[in-house]
Amino acid sequence: MTAPAERLRAIVTRQGPVPWSVLVEVALYGEGGFYAAGGGAGRHRDFLTSPEMGTLFGAVLARAIDATWEACGRPDPWVVVEAGAGPGTLAAAVLAAAPACAPALRYVAVEVSPALRSAAAGRLALEDPAQVLGPRVAGASGEAPAPRTGVGPLVATVADLPAGSEAGVVFANELLDNLPFDVYARADGTWQEVRVRTDDDAFVEVLVPAPPEVAARLAALAPDAPDGARVPWQARAVAWLRQALALVECGRVVVVDYGRTTAELADVGPAAWMRTYRRGGPGLGPLIRIGEQDVTADVAIDQLAAVRPPTRVRDQAAWLDAHGLAVLTAEAERRWQEGAASGGLSAVAARSRVHEARALSDRSGLGGFTVCEWDVAL
Ligand SMILES: C[S@@+](CC[C@H](N)C(=O)[O-])C[C@H]1O[C@@H](n2cnc3c(N)ncnc32)[C@H](O)[C@@H]1O
Repeated sequence: MTAPAERLRAIVTRQGPVPWSVLVEVALYGEGGFYAAGGGAGRHRDFLTSPEMGTLFGAVLARAIDATWEACGRPDPWVVVEAGAGPGTLAAAVLAAAPACAPALRYVAVEVSPALRSAAAGRLALEDPAQVLGPRVAGASGEAPAPRTGVGPLVATVADLPAGSEAGVVFANELLDNLPFDVYARADGTWQEVRVRTDDDAFVEVLVPAPPEVAARLAALAPDAPDGARVPWQARAVAWLRQALALVECGRVVVVDYGRTTAELADVGPAAWMRTYRRGGPGLGPLIRIGEQDVTADVAIDQLAAVRPPTRVRDQAAWLDAHGLAVLTAEAERRWQEGAASGGLSAVAARSRVHEARALSDRSGLGGFTVCEWDVAL
């Protein structure tokens, strides 16, 4: 048994059957858990995400950040919070794209895994978070303290979303699907909670009565779900969104993930909405190899909408298009066409950028991800 599995067994022994969110927390973020041990996104890690395909996704995000900065009247400082920043790949790409807001930019990469924060430290020039989010220096003749301006870009990594309400953009790519979720099942005409207990050396599921308020919400969100249907209940993602919205003074919260409605999740079933990954491919069942693989659930957009309905929902292909993907790839398209016959280095680099753009926009893959945006004071 893995060390996280032993820890889960000890919790079950003390507390009885535990919610799925406890299993996911221990498996991913507890000591020796999948992310805590440094697993995750990357070419030489466990799976590929849009930022890990190359630098293009970050270049488009840099343009989106600039557009929001302009819409907010070019504030300085301009705080961008990237949540679930992994090893810092997206942060590095945004900074490399040299956004116009750079002199005002304070980029805060939030990553819960100490191993991944230290990987990010190897590729980003980091400053003390207190300096990046402050400091406010007193005015010459005793006026109110004011933040320093024109000193960006300043970059920091932290473990949690910062407090306060001074951010311009909060961005999260494939974070919410990784926040611990609970599981509910339809049985005997009612919604029941699925919990996890031990059976000798194995972990098995058991149904317990659902809290009435959750059962009522699920009945409203998926009224036609038949017996046997299962859905994730994403209270942690909802809490994260509430915190992220409270952080933004003027700007937007942008969430990119594989999203569906709760009714769609009930329809497709857990084999489609819950997935495991390890070492570049699909993993095993989520109740085995605990801690050795990623466990992830599609995000129920309508559960998030209970906090505040998103201002805009579109797929990643449309979001990239709206923020200038074509402009960023036109030059590469031209270089590739001109140099294809010669096969020179410049043509090869151009070809890989064109391929990256196609992969990011492919609606049967990454391009089909859902982008939800919540505008704040815009
Ligand atoms: C699927 S990975 C995505 C990484 C990166 N955003 C990307 O797209 O390549 C999810 C990341 O979110 C991190 N994470 C999970 N819960 C978190 C939390 N509450 N705060 C910050 N990071 C978190 C994980 O450790 C992991 O690095």
